[in-house]
Amino acid sequence: MNPLNHVAIIMDGNGRWGLKHTNSRNKGHRAGLNTVEKIIKTTIKNQIPYLTLFAFSTENWKRPRSEIKYLFKLLEKFLKNKITNLNKNDIKLKIIGEKNFPLKLNKLLKKSELLTKNNSKLQINLALNYGSKKEIVNAIRTLNKNNKKITERNISGELYTKHIPDPDVLIRTGKTNRLSNFLLWQISYSEIFFSNKFWPDFTEADFIKIINKYRKIKRNFGEI
Ligand code: FPP
Repeated sequence: MNPLNHVAIIMDGNGRWGLKHTNSRNKGHRAGLNTVEKIIKTTIKNQIPYLTLFAFSTENWKRPRSEIKYLFKLLEKFLKNKITNLNKNDIKLKIIGEKNFPLKLNKLLKKSELLTKNNSKLQINLALNYGSKKEIVNAIRTLNKNNKKITERNISGELYTKHIPDPDVLIRTGKTNRLSNFLLWQISYSEIFFSNKFWPDFTEADFIKIINKYRKIKRNFGEI
């Protein structure tokens, strides 16, 4: 049975779910947040120590202003309502990506990280304004600036995910089989699962099914 330390998820399909059920993409994001909460609980139940969620990409700025504003409000509300509870449950929140949001949201993100920084049951990496290519370029620039050698180890050590294991499992929901500039360096040997369900429809049972499938895979890491 494979150990499972880190699950990363591309939570795709909120917009299409919203249009299908309510004629509003934003309502899809609202429904997606319920799935986030369910999946956090399942992650804890299954004693998985790291969960990385792709919530806003560097490319998502191209969306209509109203949708971006709604997503930020949703995030703000989520943090305000849930951070005390996350903290009580020994959950550490880390933002991966560039924190250049409206001042109020930036402050809240930093405060939430600070509050939970010593927690250790589960680390949730929330990818916000995150783009993998940019992350890699920035890592190489930092190494150059500090006259350090360009090696795999040194590059890994400059990524947002330094100090944590690479994802064992990457899940993408939403009927789309692509990686969308997410953790390209870190998923070199991840087991990838695509789900045809939109993120709001993704259930605990779907998650468990993937975990069980993953546990039985023969992972070679290039060997035979
Ligand atoms: C992708 O679906 C999803 C997003 C860009 C946002 C993800 C946000 C949430 C799940 C809710 C908020 C989460 C937190 C942690 C506060 P899409 O909009 O690209 O869907 P589509 O492909 O159907 O258009």
